[in-house]
Amino acid sequence: MSQHVSSRISGFYKRCLEERLRAIQALGLLDEEALAHLASGGGLPTAVADRMCENVIATHALPLGLALNFRVNQRDVLVPMAVEEPSVIAAASNAARMVRRSGGFSGEADPPIMTAQVQLDDVPDAEAAAGRLEAARASLLAAGDAAIPRMVARGGGCRDLEVRVLSAELGVLVVHLYVEVGDAMGANLVDTVAEAVAPLVQRIAGGTLGLRILSNLTVRRLVRVTATVTDDALGGADVASGIARASRFAELDPYRATTHNKGFMNGLDAAAVALGQDFRAIEAGAHAYASIGGRYRPLSTWERIPGGLVGRAELPLAVGTVGGATEVHAGVRAALQLVGAKSARELAVVLASVGLASNLAALRALASEGIQRGHMRLHERKRALGVTSTAGGEAAGPASGEGKRFAAERAEAPRAVHQAGGGT
Ligand code: HMG
Repeated sequence: MSQHVSSRISGFYKRCLEERLRAIQALGLLDEEALAHLASGGGLPTAVADRMCENVIATHALPLGLALNFRVNQRDVLVPMAVEEPSVIAAASNAARMVRRSGGFSGEADPPIMTAQVQLDDVPDAEAAAGRLEAARASLLAAGDAAIPRMVARGGGCRDLEVRVLSAELGVLVVHLYVEVGDAMGANLVDTVAEAVAPLVQRIAGGTLGLRILSNLTVRRLVRVTATVTDDALGGADVASGIARASRFAELDPYRATTHNKGFMNGLDAAAVALGQDFRAIEAGAHAYASIGGRYRPLSTWERIPGGLVGRAELPLAVGTVGGATEVHAGVRAALQLVGAKSARELAVVLASVGLASNLAALRALASEGIQRGHMRLHERKRALGVTSTAGGEAAGPASGEGKRFAAERAEAPRAVHQAGGGT
């Protein structure tokens, strides 16, 4: 997004859908095709769906919304999100608005290095074989590069090699090839490399060839983001302290860390789906990384600083701005235009920032009024605006006048959409 475009569109949610679209159109981020796609309600022609996966019988829609107020590395960003759960988009926008007052999110992503694994079993003298493989580093990297000439021409390719003896006794050994994949997520490229180098690996090490596949624990493709937020923006020092205590709780307890990380992934996954990313790979990598030290830990932490909080997050994030669904899906192309990331690394920083925002919003609610009051307020506001929605879910006992009205309404509602699919 150009510098003069603001992601701060106050009261966006109070407008009707057509007005929201007009407001987005006026920002000039979308080409004709993307505008027409969104104006038509989105979706996916079944003919395209039929090319994307197998045994297609229809398509399956989700709401597409925009999280607002994000400023990431000094750039305003609109974040498209596809999600069935009410309050995720409002929560991320809410926290981004608070963080914005202190300058927004900042972060950096490692170069896009993916990991190819080649497994060998029954290797005689695995330690000696590991030494031979390391000595053959140059020829192994060259064999990998030869399999992906177009990526090499674009500046990517095999960068490094590592040999891990998993069991000397059983002769189980794995070779990692680290492959730079440009702006792609890179799974196919890396699988190609793994399959291409495997025969040479086996010739050098001996043993029986096993799997040749990427690892989704992309430890050389980490993203780190940080944000500060003032007591004032949060609603007071007590709330800020409550958030820091909630963060410490997550650091001490894997049961809490799991829910903490679910809150972190809320917005990240929703944006990843809208942007056509492989969210299964993202989830697998994130949770493996959360437990990499032997105990499951929070992906983000919040720490008290004078007058506020500083939040930090670090996780592996393999995302792409080219390839995959970006090639065929008009909604994904529109989402990429909206987010305006010029590279996969920039996209990773945006997505991690969205995670940190989602986490902050949830912790703030939990450390103050509890999660259900905000949900009820959302619902009540939609009702007052005349927007038909069935947000809510299994609400706790009504805590306010609006809550009581919501509860009464729920009792009458035949069946809420949210009850079928929503959750926290
Ligand atoms: P509020 O105080 O009623 O909001 O919050 P507000 O009126 O002060 O508005 C603040 C900003 O929030 C707005 O700025 C919007 O950006 C946004 P404005 O546009 O006015 O300048 N906002 C909305 N955006 C879209 N639609 C709306 C809307 N309302 C406000 N209707 C809110 C209400 C729900 C945002 C707040 O209570 C909140 O952030 N709650 C957290 C909710 C949450 O985290 N939901 C995720 C699901 S819960 C979960 O994942 C599991 C969990 O277990 C994770 C964990 O344990 O860590 C909780």
